[in-house]
Amino acid sequence: MRTDRDDIERVLIDQDEIKRRVEQLGQTLALDYEGKNPLVLGILKGANIFVADLIRAMDIELELDFLILESYGHSDTPGAVVLKRDCETNMEGRDVIIVDDIADTGQTLETLKKLFAGRGAVSVKTCVLLDKPARRKVDCTPDYLGFSIEDHFVVGYGLDYAERFRNLPGVCTLKKHVYGAI
Ligand code: IMP
Ligand code: MG
Repeated sequence: MRTDRDDIERVLIDQDEIKRRVEQLGQTLALDYEGKNPLVLGILKGANIFVADLIRAMDIELELDFLILESYGHSDTPGAVVLKRDCETNMEGRDVIIVDDIADTGQTLETLKKLFAGRGAVSVKTCVLLDKPARRKVDCTPDYLGFSIEDHFVVGYGLDYAERFRNLPGVCTLKKHVYGAI
């Protein structure tokens, strides 16, 4: 039995809703990138589950790579974006799709877009499962979006709080005592 269910306030987006939306997103991306052999870049760890489902909904030729960014640790407030492990694929002449779990302040997506454009990518677009526009600090609009949500801290479907809850099948909000305890 898992005790972390007690820390969940409610399921914001359930797994069926996510599945339907991710399939639509994958089909849209497949139409837009047909014949381009895009480089899909998943941002770890949060985008792991999303990108795995997304690329299987994209019925075109593509390549997949990952990079790891410094995580939030135990905090729920964002800081500077630090590359922990870079991706290995040469981006010159490629159409890059950055895939992340959520756009919050927007700093991650903006920083990576600039970085990859500087490496010679012909196009760099962003695709996120979730967007919290109320939290934006830099001007940034995801090119492909699953769901726009209110300003809640959310977990599940890859998203964590202090490395917990990534394996919940839906996107959930946490009870207040969870924040207080850490
Ligand atoms: P940004 O650079 O502020 O847009 O932050 C994006 C990153 O912050 C995401 O890749 C997530 O890892 C993390 N993040 C932002 N909001 C949440 C949340 O509500 N739950 C879990 N992680 C979050
Ligand atoms: Mg992340």
